[in-house]
Amino acid sequence: MPIQSKIITIVGARPQFVKAAPLSAALSEVGIEEVIVHTGQHYDEKLSDIFFSEMNIPAPLHNLGVGSGPHGQQTGRMLELIEQILSAESPRAVLLYGDTNSTLAGALAAAKLHLPVAHVEAGVRSFNRAMPEEINRVVTDHIADWLFCPSAVARDNLQSEGITSGVFVVGDVMYDCWLRGAEDECERSGVLSELSLLDAGDSPERFCLATIHRPENTESPERLRSIVSALEAIPMRVVLPLHPRTRDAASHLHLGSRGDVAVIEPLGYAGMQELERSASLIVTDSGGVQKEAYFAGVPCITARDETEWVETVESGWNRVVGADRDEIINCADYYYSWSPPERKELYGDGAAAQHIASELVQLLSAR
Ligand code: UD1
Ligand code: UDP
Repeated sequence: MPIQSKIITIVGARPQFVKAAPLSAALSEVGIEEVIVHTGQHYDEKLSDIFFSEMNIPAPLHNLGVGSGPHGQQTGRMLELIEQILSAESPRAVLLYGDTNSTLAGALAAAKLHLPVAHVEAGVRSFNRAMPEEINRVVTDHIADWLFCPSAVARDNLQSEGITSGVFVVGDVMYDCWLRGAEDECERSGVLSELSLLDAGDSPERFCLATIHRPENTESPERLRSIVSALEAIPMRVVLPLHPRTRDAASHLHLGSRGDVAVIEPLGYAGMQELERSASLIVTDSGGVQKEAYFAGVPCITARDETEWVETVESGWNRVVGADRDEIINCADYYYSWSPPERKELYGDGAAAQHIASELVQLLSAR
C-alpha cells in the first residue's frame, strides 16, 4: 500500500537516529512509505552521518540544516521549515521519537496541520520540568494521537495524565537495536584494540565507560568539575567519548591530564556498543546509555538527580547518585564487590519496531 500510506519521520539528534534504525526497516517490510526529514539539530559527522551509514538508515529526503541555538530559536526555525515540508508532502501521519527539540517542533507542526502524530517512546517521565526534554515529552504526548510506550511504567505515566486512548505498550526500539547489534558479535568495531583495552589473550581489560552531556551537568561548573574529578579518581581506565557540548564546557578542566581518563571523539553505534558490552562499569547522564548498560549487564552509575528509566534502578543495576564526587566514587566501590541481581526483560521482546509497524498499518487503514 505505498503512496497512500506515506508517513513523514522527523529526526534530528543522535539518539533519534538509533531509534529510527529498526523502525525504518520494519516500516519498509510492511509497505509503509517513509520520508525521513532531518532537522539538522545534530550535524557533526560523528553525531549524525555515521549513524545513517553504519545502521543502514535511509538517507533523509530533506535536511533542514537548522543547527545549534537557544531552545526557542532552534525549535522555532524547525517548526517553520517542518510546516513547509509537511504541507508539500501531505503525509498520512508524522512519526516522532523521544524528547528532543526536533520532536517538539515536529509535534507542533503536525498538530497544527491536523496530521496524526505517532510518538515512539511515549510516556517516559523524569518529573523534572527543569529538563528541556521533559517539556518536550509532555507536550508531544499531549498532542500525539498514537503513543507507543516502551514499558508499562510509561503507560501508567500517561494514564495519570489522563491519556488513555491510542496508547500501545510495544517495548523499546533501543532494545531491538541492541539485539541487532549483538547478533554481529564477531564483527568488532576495532575500538578495543585502538584504545589498547585488550590483554595478551585478546580479552578486554577492566575499564569504565563514561558519557556526560546533560545541560544540568555541563552548564554547572561545580557539577561538571565534581563529575570529572570522580572520573579521575576511579581506580581503572576511564574511556570518555566526548559530546561537543561537554568538550566546550570542560575545556578549562584539561580532561585527560589527570587520572587514567582516555578522552575520545564521539563513537558510532558499533563502537559504542562494543565498549558498553566490554566495560566493567558505566557512568553516564544519558538516557539511552542507562538502558544499554542494563542490556549489556554492566552496572551503571547515573550522574543525575533523577532518572526516567526507573525500572533499571528498581532492578538493582543502576544507581542515581547525582554529581557529587564522593557519591560517584563510593558507588563505583560498591559495584566492585557486588552480587549482580537478576536481569529481567524490562523493555519488550526485541520486536518493538515490528509491533509499531503493524499497529501503524491498522491505524492508517482505519482512517
Ligand atoms: C540534544 C537533546 C538531548 C539529547 C542529546 C543527544 C534537546 C533539548 N536535547 O542535546 O535530549 O540527549 O541531543 O546527544 O533537544 N553541537 C555540536 N555539533 C553538533 C551538535 C551540537 O558541536 O552536531 C554542540 C553545539 O555547541 C550545541 C551543543 O552541542 O550548542 C548542544 O547541542 P543541542 O543539539 O542543542 O543539544 P544536545 O546537548 O546535543
Ligand atoms: N552513543 C553513541 N556514541 C557515543 C555516545 C552515545 O553511539 O559516543 C549512542 C548510545 O549508545 C545510545 C545513544 O547514542 O544508543 C544515546 O544518545 P545520547 O546519549 O546522545 O542521548 P540520550 O539518550 O541521553 O537522549
